[in-house]
Amino acid sequence: MADHVRIYEVGPRDGLQNEARPIPLATKLRYLELLADAGLREIETTSFVAPAAIPQLADADELMAALPRRPGVRYPVLVPNLRGLARAEAVGVDAIAVFTAATDAFTTRNIRMTVDESLDAFAPVLARAGELGWWRRGYVSTAFGCPYSGAVSADRAVEVGARLLALGLDEVCFGDTIGVGVPPQVRDIVARAADAGIPLPRIAFHFHDTRGTALANVAAAMSVGVRCFDASTGGTGGCPYAPGAAGNLATEDLVYLLDAIGIDHGVSLDEVLVAARFIADALGRPLATKVGQAGGWDPATGAATGRP
Ligand code: COA
Ligand code: ZN
Repeated sequence: MADHVRIYEVGPRDGLQNEARPIPLATKLRYLELLADAGLREIETTSFVAPAAIPQLADADELMAALPRRPGVRYPVLVPNLRGLARAEAVGVDAIAVFTAATDAFTTRNIRMTVDESLDAFAPVLARAGELGWWRRGYVSTAFGCPYSGAVSADRAVEVGARLLALGLDEVCFGDTIGVGVPPQVRDIVARAADAGIPLPRIAFHFHDTRGTALANVAAAMSVGVRCFDASTGGTGGCPYAPGAAGNLATEDLVYLLDAIGIDHGVSLDEVLVAARFIADALGRPLATKVGQAGGWDPATGAATGRP
């Protein structure tokens, strides 16, 4: 059996949360449809957070009520508290992500809690989601560095990840929120996670390509056995509380690499490029990702593929 990687799409949530231009609901629904058409099976769709905190995703209730669920596709949403969970439950959500960080400087700005307070706040949310049988993910943002407090040790990132996992998670995702991470840090986090008893299949990484290190970090994580990576079709993304965090790892760049090295992931590069172009158009800018511009490549003919 071919080696398999899970691609966890974050474009509709992380990608759109920081856009200046408001995105119509119909555009979001179409984007979600194109992502599922491309073969993406985990699509983080929106956030049930305070609307004033993230106005771009304030239509979360409407969006989830209107979204036709594709069989076999998981549509997780961000939930910061019981209020968010209740909203999510009312519109048929069955997968959530809670989100803290490695640093108090970041969480106090992002969710107005210290890391310790956030873990206390998430405990009842994850417990309730567990009773409901929902899939549960937890993010450790700023795991590679913080825009407010600087360097973050792998020990600290893993300590928070382990405490989060102990609250009842299917998966803990270490986020390089501002795209400063490098491969030795990735390997360090994985090694320390093993020491802390975090099973490899429960680890995911969320890289931003802010400084061009995202794919190198993916390769490093794969070399030590990690098999789940976040990516954003069209390379959109950034957090309003993380200055300079523009640009998630682009799904098309990740898919190109995985295809070329023979890793199975179930996603069609050509179809991802269709979705990437769709969202770039909707945002009124050219598609700026590497593979978005160059297309794929057919080794049989030497020609670029997937271009309009
Ligand atoms: N859904 C809708 N409204 C919510 C809410 C939720 N899940 N949680 C809180 N609110 C509302 C409250 O009712 C209150 O509204 P009001 O001002 O009209 O009374 C307001 O938001 C503030 O609520 P409070 O409980 O005092 O929260 P807070 O101000 O301490 O903020 C969070 C905490 C976590 C709710 C808020 O910071 C947040 O939603 N952050 C999300 C940030 C984010 O998504 N970042 C990007 C992802 S990395
Ligand atoms: Zn992100």
